[in-house]
Formats: sequence, C-alpha cells, structure tokens
Amino acid sequence: MITRTSHTLGLAAGLDKNATKYKQILDNSIFDYVEIGTITEFPNEGHKDKFTEVHGRTIYNYNGLNNDGADEVLKRLDLDYKNRIGVNIYGDEESMNRLMVMFEPYCSYITINISCPNISKEYTEISKLKLKGDVFAKLSAFHVRPKLLKSIIDAGFKGVIIGNSVMHPRHGVICGKSGESLLHKNEIAIFRIPAEIKSQLIIIGLGGIMNNNDVATYASWGCKNVQVFTQYYLKVHNKFE
Ligand SMILES: Cc1cc2nc3c(=O)[nH]c(=O)nc-3n(C[C@H](O)[C@H](O)[C@H](O)COP(=O)(O)O)c2cc1C
Repeated sequence: MITRTSHTLGLAAGLDKNATKYKQILDNSIFDYVEIGTITEFPNEGHKDKFTEVHGRTIYNYNGLNNDGADEVLKRLDLDYKNRIGVNIYGDEESMNRLMVMFEPYCSYITINISCPNISKEYTEISKLKLKGDVFAKLSAFHVRPKLLKSIIDAGFKGVIIGNSVMHPRHGVICGKSGESLLHKNEIAIFRIPAEIKSQLIIIGLGGIMNNNDVATYASWGCKNVQVFTQYYLKVHNKFE
C-alpha cells in the first residue's frame, strides 16, 4: 500500500494503541490507514506516573508503551481492514521476530519502533531481526544517521518513518515532545540524508503537520507519504487554540 509513488495519509501510532478505534476512525475520516500500537508481546502498563500534557500545538507525553499485549490486540484485527492497518511493535529482537510472524498476515505493513523517547534502550540490534512483509523503522530526527540508515537498508527494510517524538526533560523525567516544533527538526534530518540512501528507502514524513501546507512541505523533501498525530489529537480533544 505504501509505495514510492503513493500519496497516503496515515494516523500515526499512539492514538489507537490497542486496536479499539481504527474501524471508527477509518470509516469516518480521510485517513488512508491507521498505525496501531505500539504493541509489546505481553500486556504493558507503561509508566506509573503517566502524563500527556498539551501546550498549544505541542504535546508532552510520558506514558511508556502501555498496551493490552499482542494476543488481545490480535483478536481485534479484522482482515477486511488488512490493507488499511499498520502495526507498530516494540520489544527485544527475539520478541519482535515473534510479533512480526503474528501480525504480518493481518496488516499491510509493520513498524519497528526503534526510537521511543519513553524507554531507556536506545537501539535495536537490527541485524538480529528477521523481517516479515513490508517493514518500516520509526526514528526520531536525532536517530537519522547514515550508519544506522545503511544497516536499515542492509536488513531489508522498506522504509523509515521520520519521525518520532523527541526526548525532552519535563517534571524530572525524559518525556516525548510532539507537535509543531518537529517540522523543522525533521526538515534538517531529512535534508541531510545522502541521496544514495534516500533512493533506497521510502521516507514517511511525520511530525508537526498541522495543515495542507505542512504536507506540501514534506512532499518537497521527497516524502509523498505522511502521517499525523498531534493535529488529529488536538482536533478530537477539541483543544485547538
Ligand atoms: C500521547 C502520545 C502517544 C504516542 N504514542 C506512541 C506510540 O505508542 N508509538 C509510537 O511509535 N509513537 C507514539 N507517539 C508518537 C507519534 O506517533 C508521532 O511520532 C509524534 O507525535 C510526532 O508526530 P506529531 O508531531 O504529528 O504529533 C505518541 C505521541 C503522543 C503525543
């Protein structure tokens, strides 16, 4: 579904972590697909002192990877929606290999979340992954380095999602910062990717998209496929300034 020439708009991971809302969202919005998750192999409560704070068009998120776990989420996936679902997963390499086998038949692509700002382990050992189907790696702007991108290509990833929330200190913890400030950070990160790497990966643009102009901005950097989180979150929570 996501190809080099397609123009798709996806709802980014984090809004439907447990696959309880995707049908309603897809049936009533302009999204081409919803990325479910992040899902871990077993149920995960996330951080004890969770918070999600909205300031204007910025969201600070310290939730961790709270989700119902792979078995429960899998039961909620409907094959009729297979082409309009991506599944975002996280775990150690063995666990993610099992998750890929489980979810690949039920979704159009899988995302490996190798850049979550809410967890301490920074890198996944990419060479240990056995990719199933179309797989994307989700990076934050700060993870976009040629060496990592080359190992992503060598492992057979179809593309990368740039990007995730960035790490930000708040209330004495490192949380994720999302929203409008990511657009410029991602611009710099995408601009710096060498052309020979760009030609081998589909880059899905994500971060700070608030309107059609921002979508056009990502397109001008070579990202025809984009995702949105904050803009939709603010809209559904009725918190536009
Ligand atoms: C409250 C919240 C929860 C999120 N949860 C996840 C998640 O579970 N997995 C993930 O890969 N990204 C998660 N994200 C990151 C978003 O998918 C997206 O990468 C980020 O918000 C940047 O896009 P935006 O500027 O449009 O919000 C979350 C973001 C927020 C604000």
